[in-house]
Amino acid sequence: MKKRILTGITTTGTPHIGNYLGAIKPALKLAEDFDESFYFLADYHAIIKNSNKSEVSESVKNVALAWLSSGLDPNKSFFYRQSDVPEILELSWILNCVTAKGLMNRSHAYKAATTVNKEDEDKGITMGLFSYPVLMAADILMFNATHVPVGADQIQHIEMTRDIAGRFNHLYKKTFVLPEALIQSKDETVPGLDGQKMSKSYGNIIPLLSSEKQLKKSVAKIVTNSLEPGEPKDSSNCTVFSLYKHFATQQMVEEFQEDYKKGISWGDAKNKLFDCINLEMIPIREKYNELYSDNDFINDLLSDGSKKVRVIAQEMISSIRSSIGINKIS
Ligand code: TRP
Repeated sequence: MKKRILTGITTTGTPHIGNYLGAIKPALKLAEDFDESFYFLADYHAIIKNSNKSEVSESVKNVALAWLSSGLDPNKSFFYRQSDVPEILELSWILNCVTAKGLMNRSHAYKAATTVNKEDEDKGITMGLFSYPVLMAADILMFNATHVPVGADQIQHIEMTRDIAGRFNHLYKKTFVLPEALIQSKDETVPGLDGQKMSKSYGNIIPLLSSEKQLKKSVAKIVTNSLEPGEPKDSSNCTVFSLYKHFATQQMVEEFQEDYKKGISWGDAKNKLFDCINLEMIPIREKYNELYSDNDFINDLLSDGSKKVRVIAQEMISSIRSSIGINKIS
């Protein structure tokens, strides 16, 4: 059996350093160990939480650019946009019909949304949000991905995918591989400007695709304590230091730790952090600037990508249709 990894990014907001370190970079690195890799833009997931059309369409471009600028090679991987593969939605419906409502009731994302409600627990909750995990299962099962790199917050969705796949295999015929989650470890969580997990919903991000000047500004905004230059500083529990660890070599980290003990000023510490992030961003920024104004190139690339994956998707859907009795009258 072919080893296939597959992962998607929901196209809301601007991709940030946390997406890059936590999702994009490790997923691209993993491609080396797998026979095939699938990376996609989850734009039908985006409309679940965002009904602002320009935000959704802008984000598709930015997330595509984030993948490509970070080194995704479309000749070696499948790279596509979810909405260009309508078979995924068809599969999503079919899977809806084998998915227990009770399973969806237990979804963390759905439960989190209901607990903030008082009288009507389903206030503001759409069927899109409720069945979000089914669409995600369709993304994965369509291509029989064997491994799915995701953040820890997505573990439950992969378990649900396995459940749904097992249910379909049992009811009809063995069609789906049960995928395994590849989880990024907890202590690799990337902190944002305020020290909490970097996340668009906390408004504490460092954008991935920014100019040198913007990056410098973001780094300057990182919250520190008010220790003066010359006073020894604690590197554990320090946002500047933990971001540095994500970009620096082991030796650089050890030296930085010494600087802390010797009382490096926050200004100097931030300059070191900036230099270190910036070094990694230079080729990414270059590629981004090169592609940014070439919408035709990006559109063509995505269109080619969807053509390639649709061959696989159509074959899969046609076999599933016949398994479930949606076929020619005979
Ligand atoms: N739900 C994922 C997230 O928000 C994005 C996603 C959609 C995904 N479909 C997927 C991830 C399929 C992996 C596989 O992070």
